[in-house]
Amino acid sequence: MNKTFKLAPSILSADFANLGADLHKIEVAGANLVHVDVMDGSFVPNISIGPLLVEACKRSTILPLDVHLMIVQPEKYIKAFADAGADIITVHAESTTHLHRTLQLIKDVNVGVGLAVNPLTPLNVVLEALPYLDLALIMSVNPGFGGQKFIKPSLDRIETVANWISDLGLACEIEVDGGVKTNNIKEIVNAGANILVAGSAVFNENSVEQNIKDLRLAVK
Ligand code: DX5
Ligand code: ZN
Repeated sequence: MNKTFKLAPSILSADFANLGADLHKIEVAGANLVHVDVMDGSFVPNISIGPLLVEACKRSTILPLDVHLMIVQPEKYIKAFADAGADIITVHAESTTHLHRTLQLIKDVNVGVGLAVNPLTPLNVVLEALPYLDLALIMSVNPGFGGQKFIKPSLDRIETVANWISDLGLACEIEVDGGVKTNNIKEIVNAGANILVAGSAVFNENSVEQNIKDLRLAVK
């Protein structure tokens, strides 16, 4: 079966000195979204991007900006990222005490509402939150760095969430983030994911165009 999916290159692995050029490359190569990894050195060990860079991306691409907040108390920054041009804002279930309120805050700024869960976070939080979500992000690595290995049991987790969404007749999308490569992308899509984040598989020594082609071909 040929399943359709959206590709969301993560700019964490892009060349920040030539970000405009890299955004142009993924756009031309047919990427569907730009995945922006925001890290604060507290929720995750790494520090990366803030609203200023999101605003710069907004001026450099027509692709929707899929902003993944890996920060503590994300509720404090939702408006800043929405003002900067985020089209979807995803928060981690593990990062905010009043998740229901935080999801509502995202809705209130009129952007897509996303909820992420780490590899061992019980999925029942996703089930409970589904009616409020445009996107459920199943982390397939521990967040913080690009270039890590895909955690295999994530496939079952994707399938579980996909079944819930279909049983409930909801339109929520399923995104997978971490370790997506040509050698596993097909099984990830078959498990039910429809937005695939890829950082190191897109931005590496080969051409971005070829890498994106290869990822798409691998699903066929
Ligand atoms: C990990 C980030 C990912 C990461 C993916 O914390 O959320 O988006 O950049 O990188 P790869 O595709 O290299 O695993
Ligand atoms: Zn991410």
